Amino acid sequence: MCGIIGYAGDECAVPIIVDGLKRLEYRGYDSAGIAVFGKDGFEVAKQKGRLSALEKKLESTPISGFMGIGHTRWATHGEPSDINSHPHLGSTSKIAVVHNGIIENYKHLKERLEQRGIKFVSQTDSEVVAQLAERYYDGDLLNTVIKTTNALEGSYALGIMCLDDPDTIIAVKKDNPLIVGVSEAGNFIASDVPAILEHTNKVYYMDDKEIAVITKNSVQFYNMDKEPITKQLETITWSVDSAEKGGYPHFMLKEIMEQPKVMRDTIQTIIAGENKKVIDAINIKDFDKIVVTACGSAYNAGVVSKYVFERLCRFSCEVELASEFRYKDAIVDKRTLVILVSQSGETADTIAAMREAKNKGATTLSIVNVIGSTIAKETDHTIYTAAGPEIAVATTKAFSTQLVLLYTLAIKFSGSESLMDELKTIPDKIQEIFEHVDYIQKYAAACIGYKSIFFIGRNIDYAIALEGSLKLKEISYIHSEAYAGGELKHGTISLVEENTLVVTIACCERLHGKILSNAEQVISRGAKVLFVSNCKTEETDKLSLIKLPQINELFSPSLSVIVLQLFSYYVAANKGLDIDKPRNLAKSVTVE
Ligand code: AGP
Repeated sequence: MCGIIGYAGDECAVPIIVDGLKRLEYRGYDSAGIAVFGKDGFEVAKQKGRLSALEKKLESTPISGFMGIGHTRWATHGEPSDINSHPHLGSTSKIAVVHNGIIENYKHLKERLEQRGIKFVSQTDSEVVAQLAERYYDGDLLNTVIKTTNALEGSYALGIMCLDDPDTIIAVKKDNPLIVGVSEAGNFIASDVPAILEHTNKVYYMDDKEIAVITKNSVQFYNMDKEPITKQLETITWSVDSAEKGGYPHFMLKEIMEQPKVMRDTIQTIIAGENKKVIDAINIKDFDKIVVTACGSAYNAGVVSKYVFERLCRFSCEVELASEFRYKDAIVDKRTLVILVSQSGETADTIAAMREAKNKGATTLSIVNVIGSTIAKETDHTIYTAAGPEIAVATTKAFSTQLVLLYTLAIKFSGSESLMDELKTIPDKIQEIFEHVDYIQKYAAACIGYKSIFFIGRNIDYAIALEGSLKLKEISYIHSEAYAGGELKHGTISLVEENTLVVTIACCERLHGKILSNAEQVISRGAKVLFVSNCKTEETDKLSLIKLPQINELFSPSLSVIVLQLFSYYVAANKGLDIDKPRNLAKSVTVE
């Protein structure tokens, strides 16, 4: 997500702001910018690309001032570009704004302002804040900010400056983080602690709808009725490095723990957002079949969706590895809906599969996490996971939000809208699973010596066996294989011997007896079983149970996968491996 920093003090603001933005890079971004109070108004430098590119620009065309705001942008509305980068100024360049979040009613506000002759220059929702603030500006910046934020719907963390108040930055937030840092050399606003920790460890954590008025010598908080409020000054005890992971030892663990939130955010886009419009515009009656094509975990999400589409829509759904689909001369035509799933939107094989599908006349729909990515731009329809930037190479939260969107497509295509209520329960049920973390951590610690671990499951559980096996392999370097439970006896069971570990996923109640007997077959040959199930199952010295919350079996992959993500994470953590950047792997495989 975006990063914000602001500084008011006696030192030159530019290096402080640029360095602060560097410490927010972990949040993921596609452009960056900075605005300072100059001699003759705001001086702004902003562009698409990495911070190093902005630094080069600042070397060739320096700007300077003692007060300023900076931003790293994770595009939500409007593709990554210079003009869509923040800070945004209003048409009269009197007010400068940086924004993190999504203004859900921006289209309505923008239309109203355009009707009054305001000319917008960007495609962003954020520019509305700057234009609206200039429209409301009555000489009192605090009044203006209150009036402006009262008109906003959605989520925001804002840093605002006005030319008439050259010593003041105002900050306000709702549903996005914002802190205020205080020091001898000046005061700060920031999205997160790392941005300012080298200057101060004394911070105020802002709460929703609180307003902070910052100068170099003072920090004052107000509520939306303009009444002063007092807040507790906190002392940060983190090191700079750990703070960039929000206190977690690895991004992967942070991203596992973020899943309830980002799934709620993604569900919100389905209920009332861009994704809803795109999904509603697709008429499944225009198609004879669905093909889902992707790579890696995204492919595994596709395998989950095959069971859901076929069960709910009674519709043929093929799932294809993109690296195979691109060369197989697939049977695809204008009555085929090809769904491309990709976190990065830049995976070479998936891009090639997309172009192959388009060449054959298919309609293409992509499920992507990165705005403005190649796949997002080239498919006929695009829906976005709201996972935010995923830093760890091993995907977790992007995978989970892909599942949410795939479930939603099946629900909408089949007219089973009543299932949306149960879909909305997934985040809370994931939160319940986090109560097993200690047990999983202990169990995983005892598994680091294994040379190979099997994952089995039947029906939709087989898809999560695939994902669990991939997670384990890519971060712990332990060999693993995933099998449909009924397939083991056709050869692989010959590998099962004393102390083999077989992770068994069992969330399909009607197949519980079958998968349990598969588990008993391997136990009778000396294996140990980790049984991940929402069905009552007796534990033994050979069978350890992790009990999941109840949910419709079509949504159970969203719960069982959490256990396997944590299991893989703790095995790798106990092996002391570089979990966020595993050997030989890249976050986005942009080559064949
Ligand atoms: C999953 O943990 C891996 N990082 C990898 O399999 C990944 O899912 C695959 O490369 C596809 O990436 P994409 O979603 O960005 O297209």
